[in-house]
Amino acid sequence: MSVQIAIIGCGGMAGGHLNAYLKIHEVAPEKAELVAVCDPVKERAEEFANRAKEKTGKRPGVYDDTDKMLANEDLDGANICTPHAFHHVNAIKCLNAGVNVIVEKPIGITVKATQAIIQAAEANGKIAATAENIRRMPSRRTAHWLMNQKQMLGDMTMFFAQHASYREPDPEANWHWRLDLNLGGGGMVMDSGAHYCDTLCYLFGEPDTVYARVAQLQDLKVTKNGQLIQNEQEDTWTATINFKSGTIGTWTCTWAAPGHAFNHVVYYGTEGCLLDDGDIFHGPFDGAKVVLKDGTTYTMEALKADYMADLSKEEKDRLFPHGLTDGVQLECYDFVDAIENGRPPEINAEMGLKAKAVAEAIYESGVAGQAVNYDDVVSGKIETYQNPINEARGL
Ligand SMILES: NC(=O)c1ccc[n+]([C@@H]2O[C@H](COP(=O)([O-])OP(=O)(O)OC[C@H]3O[C@@H](n4cnc5c(N)ncnc54)[C@H](O)[C@@H]3O)[C@@H](O)[C@H]2O)c1
Repeated sequence: MSVQIAIIGCGGMAGGHLNAYLKIHEVAPEKAELVAVCDPVKERAEEFANRAKEKTGKRPGVYDDTDKMLANEDLDGANICTPHAFHHVNAIKCLNAGVNVIVEKPIGITVKATQAIIQAAEANGKIAATAENIRRMPSRRTAHWLMNQKQMLGDMTMFFAQHASYREPDPEANWHWRLDLNLGGGGMVMDSGAHYCDTLCYLFGEPDTVYARVAQLQDLKVTKNGQLIQNEQEDTWTATINFKSGTIGTWTCTWAAPGHAFNHVVYYGTEGCLLDDGDIFHGPFDGAKVVLKDGTTYTMEALKADYMADLSKEEKDRLFPHGLTDGVQLECYDFVDAIENGRPPEINAEMGLKAKAVAEAIYESGVAGQAVNYDDVVSGKIETYQNPINEARGL
């Protein structure tokens, strides 16, 4: 029987997971079946069910409550796409009911929440995967290959990922869960930043120490039910990240910089650099290029072709099954295949924790006013920034 899947939280990103399962149904009809969709706003789940029926002819069960869904469905896996505060709540319910989970980044809302997911997976002998789509795409795989396998840039020494621009504060904008630390856990350092933290671990391994300043330089307010509410997210951070490998990097972002905007992302090795032209969250992108010491230049397009040609058939089938190259489709396929074959997923919850802890180390350093040891953040020894969030969530 195909792997029986549910989606919990049917908002924006879950639409990507739904599309992924519809694509998997197209390329490998026997692989997985979306049998249930769940959202406290039931109309959202209804809409997902209608879209699935249109494509597959079968309508998944519709639920507004995870417990009801788990009591009624015989599931193999669940995709958790809720606001961050409810990732661990839903993941632990599923795992305790014997259902494997793939949890959207940044896995738990805090390190403690993530450790609770890991423990529930271990206790129940089930998979907890992190939904991290960015590193799976061809240009990111190619960047990893050229730095780590080909060593095309020599030893990786440093990187700069910098963005400055200006956003006018808009107090009339509507409040959203992301703007409340007790629901989001942080601002863009750990929201879109979760992708970059994973990419950094993927390219350079684990950090050693992190020093950061995190600030809201403009007074950011939004409107909630007619009332002005403080947006608790940072609009600015600058972080120096020292890796155990010796690589040093700075990751800086601000939307509070009027008058001059710039964006610059570049990775240096002893023999040359990878010059990216993308944003500071989701690269290295297709428009990147390698420039060596002697000026020789390779486009990412050409490097991607070399990388693909370098892969064995087994590697290609594992990394890009059925020729898929979209990161969300690939993470969902990897999850289903891991369940089917009783193997670990590529990015399990422990690896999700490692990426998440980079973002938390930035916040923890910001609060401490000094560099923090990354391993102390992973273990939960340093959690001053996260303590109020843990308390609010009953962790
Ligand atoms: N991988 C990516 O590129 C990417 C992009 C955007 C968002 N995300 C992640 O996806 C997740 C969801 O973000 P989003 O932008 O889709 O948010 P969203 O607000 O659009 O959707 C969240 C949905 O969850 C539902 N929900 C709220 N509480 C719930 C609960 N307790 N149980 C079940 N459902 C609940 C809401 O009703 C809503 O429909 C977050 O973890 C976010 O970081 C990932």
